[in-house]
Amino acid sequence: MSDLSRASALLARAGHVAVMTGAGVSAESGIPTFRGPGGLWRGRDPMTLATPEAFAADPGLVWEFYNWRRALVARAGPNPAHLALVELASRVPRLSVITQNVDRLHQRAGSRDVLELHGNLGEVRCTRCRAVDDRWGEPLPPLPRCDACGALVRPAVVWFGESLPRDVWLAAESAVCSADLVLVVGTSAVVYPAAGLIATGRRAGAAVIEVNLEPTPASGPADIGLYGKAGEILPRLVAGEST
Ligand code: OAD
Repeated sequence: MSDLSRASALLARAGHVAVMTGAGVSAESGIPTFRGPGGLWRGRDPMTLATPEAFAADPGLVWEFYNWRRALVARAGPNPAHLALVELASRVPRLSVITQNVDRLHQRAGSRDVLELHGNLGEVRCTRCRAVDDRWGEPLPPLPRCDACGALVRPAVVWFGESLPRDVWLAAESAVCSADLVLVVGTSAVVYPAAGLIATGRRAGAAVIEVNLEPTPASGPADIGLYGKAGEILPRLVAGEST
């Protein structure tokens, strides 16, 4: 029996599937991943810009990076991997989508109740009054200001060294603990605490399927690894193909 057949069989039996996605699920939409080729922005590692320290030191540079990403995502669209997960929701009794991505492509594809562990690129948060505002779809000036109090706003994403939104985290933990299958798609599984959800689900008794271009640290806990492009593998997996 092929790995795809075994994975399809697990999916067909599952009552609650928790899907956990990373940047690889959006790679085929033309959005560069963080750690792969093409991950640099103007020769810089994005991880050096996605920090509170970088924003304090040079908010203009950090906003330039985020405005570039916002424009890239606005031009992009969901790919067959995102669409397969929408289809999956109609085929299993319960589906939870947990993502580390900030691009909202799962929602644009039609997934509902997506748990965004790292926030999203559409919203901004005031550095003074902390008001959160959805500024999706509008180009922002180089140093955007708060509509409520006029202070500088920042992207409402989680940066390195910051805590994840507590309600979202608790919901994600609860989802992987009650799932009988955790489907891990397109994440290098090295950024914690998000990556820890895979082992948490495993310990709670879920089977784990990994879909990635290559094995990752999540491959250890995974029962089945399907290696290739998510946009090619997920539609076949969801359709129940067996070879
Ligand atoms: P990474 O860039 O670390 O990993 C992307 C993964 O996707 C790699 O394992 C690739 O092999 C895989 N991949 C690439 N293209 C793929 C494709 N077409 N199909 C399937 N897999 C593919 O991205 P994340 O794991 O999401 O955090 O990174 C985690 C976090 O680190 C991000 O949320 C972000 C980043 O810094 C914050 O900004 C807090």
